[in-house]
Amino acid sequence: MTPATSPTRRSARSLRRKKRTRRAAGPTARTADRYALYESAVYDPDADLRFLRRVHRKERGAFPLRLREDFAGTSKLSAMWVAKTPEAEAWAVDLDPEPLAWGRERHLEPLGPAAKRVHQIQANVLEVKTPKVDVTTAFNFSYWVFQERRTMLDYFRAVHRYLKPSGMFALDLMGGPGAQSECEEEREEDGFTYVWEQEALDAITNHMRCHIGFRFRDGSRLRRAFTYDWRLWSLPELRDVLMDAGFAQVDAYWEGTDEDGEGNGIFRKRKHAENEETWIAYLVAWKRPTG
Ligand SMILES: C[S@@+](CC[C@H](N)C(=O)[O-])C[C@H]1O[C@@H](n2cnc3c(N)ncnc32)[C@H](O)[C@@H]1O
Repeated sequence: MTPATSPTRRSARSLRRKKRTRRAAGPTARTADRYALYESAVYDPDADLRFLRRVHRKERGAFPLRLREDFAGTSKLSAMWVAKTPEAEAWAVDLDPEPLAWGRERHLEPLGPAAKRVHQIQANVLEVKTPKVDVTTAFNFSYWVFQERRTMLDYFRAVHRYLKPSGMFALDLMGGPGAQSECEEEREEDGFTYVWEQEALDAITNHMRCHIGFRFRDGSRLRRAFTYDWRLWSLPELRDVLMDAGFAQVDAYWEGTDEDGEGNGIFRKRKHAENEETWIAYLVAWKRPTG
């Protein structure tokens, strides 16, 4: 059986979403930039941006202008948020100065004067103070770094505090039997191979360690270029913690499938869903109930 693990679905989605660029010669482990590889292989926030705007407009009848991007890394979503909307503003929060600096150079500086409307903050999302925003995001499962319920509750409370009354908090998550299986998967990219490794899940704590690595045409590799220590949280657990943190309503958005049974990148609000081998969903938590 091919382990249809979380990255399979994730990869399928990111394959559809990512921008493809052709290179004359591929990178090698010596020349490669791990953030560029990450963004090329797994991260294109275009679809996230469209999702956030669609849901906010549908549920609130207004175009959202203020974003707080938690676990922002290279701050790409924030850059896209302000790029074409002169009134838009974003706060990009991350603990690590390295991806923030990388993103400042690659994503913010090219924006010109609009870059002033992205406020990068090097801080812990548990402690950071920001103005109240329309939308806060925690994407690519980054918030799973919080493995104790108490800490997750503190985080969700902090998000709640800095949301406008009409505001929404969007998170993504994965699940299904495949998300619990040990695996190593590879996918060919333009000029390199993307490798996703998922170590065995601890059945008592739900702790999982995952790695992203890259292999190159010259045989060199960047093994475990990124490592994540996460707890695998279930959807109802997260919904309960969000409600305990003060959110009034939590909606699950489920991905549709194409004729091959692959995720089609279109997420709709659902009350029930089949526990597919591996799935990805968004949760949207509202500070005040929607219509
Ligand atoms: C997987 S990256 C996310 C990058 C990008 N936003 C994405 O969705 O792909 C996770 C990021 O979370 C940051 N991070 C981890 N714990 C954090 C915390 N407590 N507060 C702020 N940032 C944190 C790390 O420094 C890292 O840049």
